[in-house]
Amino acid sequence: MSFKEGFLWGGATAANQCEGAYDADGKGLSVADAMPGGRQRFSVISAPEFNWEIEPDKYTYPNHVGIDHYHRFKEDIALFAEMGFKSYRFSIAWSRIFPKGDEETPNEKGLEFYDQLIDECLKYGIEPVVTISHYEMPLYLAKEYGGWKNRQVVDFFERYATILFERYAQKVKYWMTFNEINSAMEFPALSQGLIVATGSEDYTNRFQAWHHQFVASALAVKIGKSQRSDIQIGCMQIYAPLYAFDCNPVNQFASQLKQRAFDYFTSDVQVRGYYPTYLKQLLKEYDAEAPKMEEGDEELLRENTVDYIGFSYYMSMAINETSAEDSDPAAGNLMEGVRNPFLESSEWGWQIDPLGLRISLNDLWDRYQVPLFIVENGLGAKDEINKNGEIIDDYRIDYMQKHIAAMHDAVEDGVDLMGYTPWGCIDLVAASTGEMSKRYGFIYVDLDDEGNGTLDRKKKKSFDWYKEVIATNGEASL
Ligand code: BG6
Repeated sequence: MSFKEGFLWGGATAANQCEGAYDADGKGLSVADAMPGGRQRFSVISAPEFNWEIEPDKYTYPNHVGIDHYHRFKEDIALFAEMGFKSYRFSIAWSRIFPKGDEETPNEKGLEFYDQLIDECLKYGIEPVVTISHYEMPLYLAKEYGGWKNRQVVDFFERYATILFERYAQKVKYWMTFNEINSAMEFPALSQGLIVATGSEDYTNRFQAWHHQFVASALAVKIGKSQRSDIQIGCMQIYAPLYAFDCNPVNQFASQLKQRAFDYFTSDVQVRGYYPTYLKQLLKEYDAEAPKMEEGDEELLRENTVDYIGFSYYMSMAINETSAEDSDPAAGNLMEGVRNPFLESSEWGWQIDPLGLRISLNDLWDRYQVPLFIVENGLGAKDEINKNGEIIDDYRIDYMQKHIAAMHDAVEDGVDLMGYTPWGCIDLVAASTGEMSKRYGFIYVDLDDEGNGTLDRKKKKSFDWYKEVIATNGEASL
């Protein structure tokens, strides 16, 4: 079997989408806490009049309850252990540790929660894989400091990362700094805390924010390594093949430019340790000024590159410059493109492309030669409970089976793949739409989009299937 010994089979979640308890035990508000639920959430938050206040009379906030993982994590981790998880990727909510973000001392209650969560994983031999910042920057930093475009945020993050490594590095070997750092190309509010009121539409701010995140990520690597020599700290990005719509060189070139901007820019800096020479062209394309750097930044980036690339893979897109009017726009994971006539789509319009995963793994490996870790993948779908009380999610099994087969092929091609943590291993609130009905889990959670339900957990058919996949180190999926 091609998956290596110790392959990190598991599952992934994010604090803001599953914990709930949004104001418990001293937690402050995060950007995610102020995002209304519903399919229109991105257009709502992109409107200039949106004020990032909590307005329960006007909006719903599914994240405030999430799936109550905060109180039910023991039950959830026991179910993960039953599936045989080797790893569990979760994020730490920054606003549990520093409620506003700029405090001098951390909130002990928040730290204690993650002590328990980590210990619970270790009890079952599950490796915790921690994302330091997953779309949940303290709201105060976004509103009062302008998010990541402000250099001061680097200091606040450094303090936060230092506390986390001091407290958890001996127990947690695998880390990632920023979730989907490249998503700011389309939606900077989530990963950069950059909102309309503080200039999110200006790409100069986005590039400046990225620079600060690169510096902060490099500092985290430096601090983490000083705490534990075998620690593994990765970057994390969305990766999606952006195919040329046809063999017209104009579309080939457009696809190359788009891949650079979206798929490679952030990892080029974080893996190689320096800005690519195409930065100049990129800034021109986005009408942005070069990010301001401080003395020592370049050295810091060069000396503190990441150990591996964590990435999410859900779909691919096509790029059509020559006849875009003849193509349908495709829905997607925080990116833009057109529909590919050779692919089928999920109920939410995300194009399903398992071979694209093999292509992605090979492209990333060829470019960087560092280990790769698929830290998100999966099918968001509506699940029904049948009259026998079962959830027969064959569509999900089919999706994952094909993606695992593609992973296997990529490993045979020579790619170094560390692990696979499919997204939303237990149903949780969707990031792009704030819906519960867009489900990814092997475990069903009884909760609807309006917040009705018992929150009871129930195994889906995919639960036993994935258990078998892990038990056979992937063979059951081929
Ligand atoms: C990624 C994010 O973009 O995709 C997750 O890292 C997110 O936070 C996942 O949940 C799936 O997207 P969605 O919108 O279906 O939840």
